[in-house]
Amino acid sequence: MKKFKDGFLWGGACAANQCEGAWDKDGKGLSIIDVLSIEEHNRDHVTLELREGVNYPSHKGNQFYERYKEDIALLAEMGVTCFRLSISWSRIFPNGDDEQPNELGLQFYENVFKECRKYGIEPLVTLSHCEMPLNLTKKYKGWANRKCIDFFVRYAVTCFERYKDLVKYWITFNEINFIFNTGYLYQNGGVNLEDGDNKKELIYQVAHNQLLANARCVIESQRIIPGSYCNASLSATICYPRTCDPLDYYESIVDMNEYQYGFLDVMCDGEYNYQWLNTIEKEQLHIETEPEDFVILRKGIGNYIPFSYYFSGISRDRSNSSRGDRTKNNDNPYLTKNDWGFIIDPDGLRNTCEVFYSRYRKPLFIVENGMAKQEELIDGTVHDDYRIEYLRNHIRSLHEAVDDGCDVMGYTTWAPIDLISQGGGIMSKRYGFIYVDLNDDGSGTGKRYKKDSFYWYKKVIETNGEEL
Ligand code: BG6
Repeated sequence: MKKFKDGFLWGGACAANQCEGAWDKDGKGLSIIDVLSIEEHNRDHVTLELREGVNYPSHKGNQFYERYKEDIALLAEMGVTCFRLSISWSRIFPNGDDEQPNELGLQFYENVFKECRKYGIEPLVTLSHCEMPLNLTKKYKGWANRKCIDFFVRYAVTCFERYKDLVKYWITFNEINFIFNTGYLYQNGGVNLEDGDNKKELIYQVAHNQLLANARCVIESQRIIPGSYCNASLSATICYPRTCDPLDYYESIVDMNEYQYGFLDVMCDGEYNYQWLNTIEKEQLHIETEPEDFVILRKGIGNYIPFSYYFSGISRDRSNSSRGDRTKNNDNPYLTKNDWGFIIDPDGLRNTCEVFYSRYRKPLFIVENGMAKQEELIDGTVHDDYRIEYLRNHIRSLHEAVDDGCDVMGYTTWAPIDLISQGGGIMSKRYGFIYVDLNDDGSGTGKRYKKDSFYWYKKVIETNGEEL
């Protein structure tokens, strides 16, 4: 079998709002996630105000802001060569539309990236991972407003210039296509849905504005950091036909064209696909664009494809008129599910690589893949053989894709250190190689403990994926 290439990047991934805590420290502004109470996760409409006595999980995270040196040392001990993390936009521009950045915020990430570099760890940095300054949501309706494009590009350029000697790998938006799912027009798009809003129109408008911002960032990153990599990441959910009925195959094509290629065609080829444009025309969606946009989209083409992979999907039930939430209704008789209903499909990772690579011929980077479980610490550790099995099967499948000739740059698991769940706001949905002693209500010491998978992954990295 072909080997993973030399310099293949092995590591783990996390996001600022799920791990940092310190939500109001050192000049940080409120972000949309800081007002999202534990109950409001996955809702299309939220309160947008801080209320007394309410649990806001992002306020504490897993304490990364205070413990980043300890955490990076643990990752270095595991041998990772890459650490994916995100910058909180509201630490750098507290209101989003400020003229000047907040120096304390910039300094914090400089310290973090230098700490990574100290151990030879390559930072892979996301600029917006399910958050934006709350002010932009309140004042402009988030990404529904084109003004956010300029604000975001200013923020990105500030980061590129400041970190150009420290960071070579960039992701503009995390899972740019996830806005199709319940609650993510808010979490990804900063749009708080109001009565009378046309949800579909808003989704397509946010997508266009973010794709345009992505293209402008790609152009800026190449100008400021030659040789760097930049693109948005995709939630890869390959859609199998529900049955081998040709009509189900058709439905799977439609789904891929909307949820996967609808974004990737723009990010990698600079053009919207026919189906995307046809939907806008046929459904009379009013999308604000300017002629120049399409020139920028053609110019700002990303040079790699970062994507998350957790599960595959199946085509919609044809007796039902709407496709609905991609994270639900994807039962597959050939596959099992985890405790949260995520389909477990290791072969789907290989299938995804084949489909993306044959269509775009750009290097792939798996920036999230992982297995959640409720866990208890016993004698200072967790025997997480289920996680080892899950990751082993996925890495094996990735290796097969490499053997088939796909160009794969790296693999970062979600998440090396337990953190707050994005979907549920809970701590007890654990993904880590490292257990964190914190509970859903924020109680606990925050102490870190190595699980069995810590030692297993160390070996995987040492052998460049040969020993699984
Ligand atoms: C990805 C997100 O979609 O899924 C992460 O990028 C998230 O932020 C991960 O944590 C797992 O989802 P959840 O809901 O289990 O945290």
